[in-house]
Amino acid sequence: MRLEGKVALISGAATGVDGELMGFGGATAKLFVREGAKVVLTDINEESGQKTASEIREQGGEAMFLRLDVTREQDWINAVQATVSSYGKLDILVNNAGTGAQFTVEDTSEEVWDSQMDIHAKGTFLGTKHAIPEMRKAGGGSIINVSSIYGIVGSPSSTAYHAAKGAVRLFTKSAAIQYAKENIRVNSVHPGYARTPLTARGYADPERYQWVLDRTPIGRVGVADDIAYGILYLASDEASFVTGAELVIDGGMTAQ
Ligand SMILES: NC(=O)c1ccc[n+]([C@@H]2O[C@H](COP(=O)([O-])OP(=O)(O)OC[C@H]3O[C@@H](n4cnc5c(N)ncnc54)[C@H](O)[C@@H]3O)[C@@H](O)[C@H]2O)c1
Repeated sequence: MRLEGKVALISGAATGVDGELMGFGGATAKLFVREGAKVVLTDINEESGQKTASEIREQGGEAMFLRLDVTREQDWINAVQATVSSYGKLDILVNNAGTGAQFTVEDTSEEVWDSQMDIHAKGTFLGTKHAIPEMRKAGGGSIINVSSIYGIVGSPSSTAYHAAKGAVRLFTKSAAIQYAKENIRVNSVHPGYARTPLTARGYADPERYQWVLDRTPIGRVGVADDIAYGILYLASDEASFVTGAELVIDGGMTAQ
């Protein structure tokens, strides 16, 4: 019960249905509940989000689903309000929602650039902005921003994704410093290549999958729980001296 008594809000948490391929947000929601937290799952995918939340309730956990588009400030205001009115407070925010865009610099349209920056950078900013006042009332909190190894190193494409995940990485340190004295910790997680609903289609291409495996010293791609356990550590009081840090979970990819 590493999160006993805590209340968490997770963005991009729809993909946590048992028996289906899980994403980081869905796996984190299920793990948080097993560790004693009450969880608000949010996403733009309402069908899977409702399914994941109702499975958690059937298994005896406390969870609810809310539609939240991370790029819309009013959605964040509503979600934070609904969390506090249902569960009394907010202790943990996981800014996890995201999507990819594999284009070179010249092939990246203005629209793709803006949408990557909106979902990852602006979404993380807005969530943090509206969670902090409630965390202050609760006497502290933990914010975990899901960046990527692509927020640390480059690759042959994914231009706007790299820029947006890099923004998440440094935004995290800026917020960590601003709120450390209020016991609000802000850290980033940097997953390597992992099989989730986001990547499964790409990995079905044997050439692409081999490219990924060749770059991962540990010899396999990650699964959602590999990342969820790292998020759990940062969310818990075990990490009470950890803020502004980068937790890389990548099978050794960026050690090379
Ligand atoms: N899978 C990987 O290899 C990998 C590696 C590094 C980082 N990441 C990052 O991890 C995070 C989770 O991705 P995942 O791989 O678990 O994929 P996923 O597709 O399972 O999860 C992403 C979720 O975000 C939701 N989403 C997309 N746009 C949204 C918006 N505007 N508002 C709210 N929700 C929105 C999607 O509906 C989806 O449920 C993403 O930020 C992704 O960039 C993934």
